[in-house]
Amino acid sequence: MEELRQYKMAVEQSNIVSKTDINGIITFANEEFCKISGYNQEELIGKNHNIVRHPDVPKANFELLWNTILRKETFKTTAKNRAKDGSTFYVNTTIFPILDKSGNILEFIAIRYDVTENILLTEELTRKEEELKHLNATLENRVKEQTKQLLDLNRNLEKRVKEEAEKNREKDKMVFQQARLAAMGEMIGNIAHQWRQPLSELGIILFSMKKSFAQQDLDKMEEQYEQGKKVIDRMSQTIEDFRNFFSLEKRKNVFFIKDTIDEVISILAGSLSRAKIHVKIKARKTINVLGHKNELSQAILNIINNAKDAFKDKNTKKNVITISAKKESGFVHICIQDNAGGIDEAIIDKVFEPYFTTKHASLGTGLGLYIVKTIIENSMQGEITVENRNGGAFFMIKIPIK
Ligand SMILES: Nc1ncnc2c1ncn2[C@@H]1O[C@H](COP(=O)(O)OP(=O)(O)OP(=O)(O)O)[C@@H](O)[C@H]1O
Ligand SMILES: [Mg+2]
Repeated sequence: MEELRQYKMAVEQSNIVSKTDINGIITFANEEFCKISGYNQEELIGKNHNIVRHPDVPKANFELLWNTILRKETFKTTAKNRAKDGSTFYVNTTIFPILDKSGNILEFIAIRYDVTENILLTEELTRKEEELKHLNATLENRVKEQTKQLLDLNRNLEKRVKEEAEKNREKDKMVFQQARLAAMGEMIGNIAHQWRQPLSELGIILFSMKKSFAQQDLDKMEEQYEQGKKVIDRMSQTIEDFRNFFSLEKRKNVFFIKDTIDEVISILAGSLSRAKIHVKIKARKTINVLGHKNELSQAILNIINNAKDAFKDKNTKKNVITISAKKESGFVHICIQDNAGGIDEAIIDKVFEPYFTTKHASLGTGLGLYIVKTIIENSMQGEITVENRNGGAFFMIKIPIK
């Protein structure tokens, strides 16, 4: 009997234990039962066991329970119960019918242990699995949707890039237009300068002719007339030179570098001599390249104009620009060197950028060297570099020989 008592104690201390009579009225509830259900002994004893029933549990479960235990069999289940405060707890439950000697049911004993945490975790897990399944199902659609959006974006971007490129082309065109206008202004200045001399010559010739006419010296008049015609020819040649220089040649041609350099210098002759700049040219006549002659002329002209500007306000003893051209392993090197003090090392990396200038807004747009670089790279497939050398700026143009 003592052993049985200890056995009963061991079971009750480690489990949730309750007993009911044959009608389900609670006759016993241990400490653990009170703890988990939140009811005390007085509240439980004498009440129907369905006091802890949870409304979620279907009626069929209870029918099965009662059918089983009334058949005097053991019933096992995991039950969802409700505590006094309304919270839910889960218990693994075993219900045994206790029988008397003649096999009649005396009472029922239920032994349970708490599995709430396990169940909640399992529920959480199931929920996550559901979510995952759902996510998987929608993922494919999402990927499709995103791909479509990306494609749209891509198409949009392509369009934008095209538009921007178009705008840039327009801008470049305008830049060149602007540079051409500036160069034309320069040209008119130069024509005016080159004409000053022959115009005064013409004046003198006309005056002399008037004198010869008064003296009836027809031979002299004839001679003066021929002289005057020559002067006028020279003047129209000047216009012709400038016109060629600024004509737009669409096709690429093979041309001689030396000719190009000579032409530029003859165009600038007036302004160079006014600025007391001496130009040295070192180039063989035979070196030729393929490209747009007028564009290369414009590039050289821009570089020389910069040198001319650099000599202003400098007290150089002798202003010299040296231009050389030579062949060097598949390239023509055109070098333009001045002795005007060079370019400040702090800005030398920026001089080819559009709108970079150190000059007053009315004197420079900062487009000169940008145009030079564009011409050399795009029209001639060449490259241009600059460095300071021998007390001045040193520009080197490399053009591949085809
Ligand atoms: N030979 C040179 N010596 C010293 N500085 C130079 C020389 N060539 C160019 N630079 C510097 O590089 C800058 C940029 O030259 P770039 O020809 O691009 O523009 P700009 O001459 O200022 O203006 P623009 O040519 O449009 O009238 C100049 O402002 C000047 O500071
Ligand atoms: Mg310039």
